[in-house]
Formats: sequence, C-alpha cells, structure tokens
Amino acid sequence: MRYSKILGTGGYLPEKVLTNHDLEKMVDTTDEWIVTRTGIHQRHIAADDENAVTMAEQAGRVALEAAGLKPDDIDMIIVTSTTPHMVFPSTACLLQERFGISGCAAFDLNASACAGFMYGFSIADQFIRSGMIKHALVIGSEVMSRVVDWTDRSTCVLFGDGAGAVVLGPTAEPGVLSTHLHADGKHKDVLYLPLGNNRTPNLESVKMMGNQLFKLAVNILGDLFDETLEANQMQKSDIDWLVPHQANIRIIQAMAKKLELPLDRVVTTLDKQSNTSSASIPLALDEAIRDGRIQRGQLLLMEGFGGGLAWGSALVRY
Ligand code: ACO
Repeated sequence: MRYSKILGTGGYLPEKVLTNHDLEKMVDTTDEWIVTRTGIHQRHIAADDENAVTMAEQAGRVALEAAGLKPDDIDMIIVTSTTPHMVFPSTACLLQERFGISGCAAFDLNASACAGFMYGFSIADQFIRSGMIKHALVIGSEVMSRVVDWTDRSTCVLFGDGAGAVVLGPTAEPGVLSTHLHADGKHKDVLYLPLGNNRTPNLESVKMMGNQLFKLAVNILGDLFDETLEANQMQKSDIDWLVPHQANIRIIQAMAKKLELPLDRVVTTLDKQSNTSSASIPLALDEAIRDGRIQRGQLLLMEGFGGGLAWGSALVRY
C-alpha cells in the first residue's frame, strides 16, 4: 500500500505589517470591533514588487529545504491562488522557471479562494498514492490586499497576504489518511470576486455576506468533521491538532467545541496574519511544525472553506 506524507513545510509573510490601529485611520472601524468580531490584530501586506509568484518561491524554497529535496526532485507543482500574477502562464509555471527546472507538471488550481489548498493537497495525495508521481509541491500564495476594497470596512479588515507550502512524498505507512472535497454553487452570492471587463482584465473587489457565510461555514464544517472521522473510524479524542482555515476566531472556536478539543490544540495564526485565503492552512501548519507544537506521529485534522462555496478536509498522520 502506498500513501503520501508531509515531508516539509514552508511559509512566507511580507515584511510590511498593517495593524488594526492603522486601519482605524483608513475606514470607520476600531481595533476593538475587529478583535472582538474576528480575532485579527494585524495582517501582512505585499510590497509593490511582490506577487503570488515571488511569495510562492520564498515559501516553496523553505519547504523544499525542510524536506531535504531540490527543485528538480519535484514531479508536480500545484499553486492554489485566486490572486495569481498573470491569468497565464500559471503561477506554477512562472515558479518552475524561477526554480530553474522544466518538464514536471505545473498548474494553478482555483477552488474558490480559501478552499483551494485542501483541493491542491488532495490532488497531490491522489497522484502520489496512485504511483503517478513521487514528490509534489503544493503552495497557497495570495495577495488579497490587491483584491479588497480598502474603503469597505466590512471586508478590508479581514484579509492579508502570504504564502504557505507543503512538500508531499511517498510512504508505506500513512501519512495522509483521507481527504474530503465538496462544493455547492448555490451559495455563489455569499462570497465572490467578479472579473472586470474581460477586454481589459481587471478584477473588481471581494464581495461578502459575512453573516450568512459565518452560519454556513459552521454547519458545513461540522458535517465535514463527522464525515472525515467516520471515513477513518476515528473518534474526536484521536485528534491531536486542528489546523483550520483562518477566517474568524469565532468560527475556529465553534469548530474546537464541535471536536471537544481545547483551544491550545488548535493552530491559530489569524491574530497576526488575518485571513490569507488559500495560504492560511499551510502557513498555520508550517508555524506549528517549526515551533515544535506538531510532532511526528501526531494526528492532524486540516479544513478549509471558501467562496463557491467549496470546502475540504484532510486527516493526516504527521
Ligand atoms: N468596523 C466596525 N463596524 C463594522 C465593520 C468594521 N470593520 N464591519 C462591519 N461593521 C458593522 C456592520 O455595518 C454592522 O452594523 P449595523 O448593525 O449598524 O448594520 C455591524 O458591524 C454588524 O455587522 P455583521 O456583518 O452582522 O457582523 P458579524 O458579527 O457577522 O461580523 C464578520 C462580521 C466578521 C465578517 C463575520 O460575519 C464573519 O467572519 N463571517 C465569516 C467570514 C468568513 O468566513 N470569511 C472568509 C471565508 S472564505 C475566504 O476566506 C475567502
């Protein structure tokens, strides 16, 4: 039996930090409102010369080093981004060129923003399990600061920039136990990012019905946890760490409660990083592995949800 396992992780956050107090000077908001409603204190913002490719390169190189691999060991690059540098070539191809490699499969995956990483992770797992490839590099890289309306206080306080990367490789012992992917297009209006006039491609800004999305997320994720545990005949008490998408601390707390998991077993980065869309799960994973919280052999539940709606999970023996 062949499985995939996490060989290495990496993360990159731009140097510039925008605090809630900075936002108080930009829109009609307060640090107190943002912290109470979301748990966010600050976010990182990409510099003018940074983009999804440059950030993906930084995170990807760190993950490869952690895995003890070189770029030409990689058989597949998947970049999950809804804020790519170009429509095409894909961010993955631009990254391949920066790595100085050629020939391996490389593509971008848009599973409606924040769910993207779980989709990319699942695809990489399937390819490794089937024996089609040996090593995959999956990177979430997002420049959300370029697609939010900085005059809209209901969305601009929520998002930030960054990239997170995971290298997956083959193993005889699990590894990634299972992944679960879902979507439901009837909720398309709760979170979306329209294209501008397609003759002069320019994106509009993120539109969100926060309240409805909050309730949908809590219900969807609760069912997703049940499905994930049942598929593996495991109990809530088997889980060592929840590594969730970082959208809102209240959603994360509700998920911890659902899993009967103390909050110190939940990896939370949104206080410092905000919601970095599809980069948030690998960034959280990388932080908790690097600071020694997540140890080899422990059981991780990862989950993501985003526009579409689309959502997914993975149960992983790290
Ligand atoms: N500062 C001050 N007041 C604000 C702000 C702000 N930044 N934003 C909104 N408000 C006001 C609203 O105008 C509203 O005022 P009103 O009562 O006078 O109309 C009031 O605060 C309450 O607004 P709600 O939208 O009801 O506030 P809520 O408690 O739902 O919190 C939030 C909003 C934080 C967006 C929450 O609904 C949420 O997190 N939803 C889920 C969002 C999510 O998961 N997004 C990401 C998923 S997908 C992805 O990551 C791409």
